Amino acid sequence: MEIKKFSQDREAQRKQMSPIKSSGVVTPDKLSEESISLLTDRLKDEYTAHYFYRSAANWCKNVNYKKAADFFEAEANSELEHAKKLQEYMDDWNVKPVIQSTETNHDFTNLVDIISGAYKMEYSLLQAYNQSSSSLFMNDLTTFDFLTDFRELQKQAVIEYSDLLNALNLVDYNDKFQILYFEQTYF
Ligand SMILES: [Fe+2]
Repeated sequence: MEIKKFSQDREAQRKQMSPIKSSGVVTPDKLSEESISLLTDRLKDEYTAHYFYRSAANWCKNVNYKKAADFFEAEANSELEHAKKLQEYMDDWNVKPVIQSTETNHDFTNLVDIISGAYKMEYSLLQAYNQSSSSLFMNDLTTFDFLTDFRELQKQAVIEYSDLLNALNLVDYNDKFQILYFEQTYF
C-alpha cells in the first residue's frame, strides 16, 4: 500500500516537472528594455570613439606625426572591436542591435587638442559605463558581469591619457620641436 502511494506521488511529481507540451517551441528570453537601451547608448559611444580616433589618425598622418598616427589608428580599431563585442552580446540575447548615428568628423589644431579631447571622451565613457553598470546591478546581473571588461578597459584608457597629459606638462607645448620630441618619446 505504502509503495503504491509512493509511486503515485512520483508520477504526479514527474508530470508537474515536465511542463513541455508537444505543441510549440519555447521562445528564448530577450534582454529587458532597460538593458537594450543602455547597451544601445554605449554602442553609440563606441562608434563615436572610433570616429574620433579615426579622425585623429588622419590628422596625424596628414601633418606627418607618424608614431601618433599609428597609435590612433590602433585606437580606432580597438573601438570597433568594442562595438562588435557589444553587438555580439545583444545578438546572443536575441536582440537585433540598432546603430544610432553619431558625429563622424572631428577637426584638430594640434596634438594637444587630440590628447585633451581623448582624455575627456574616455573619462565620460568611464562614467557612462559605471552608471549603466550600477543600474544593471539590481536588474540584470548577467549584463552587469558582461560590462566588467568594458569598465576595466575604460579605466586603462583614462590612465593612459592621463599619463600623456602629465607628459605634455613636461614640455613647452607651444614649441613645435618639443611637441615632436614628445611624440617621438611617448607614442
Ligand atoms: Fe571603447
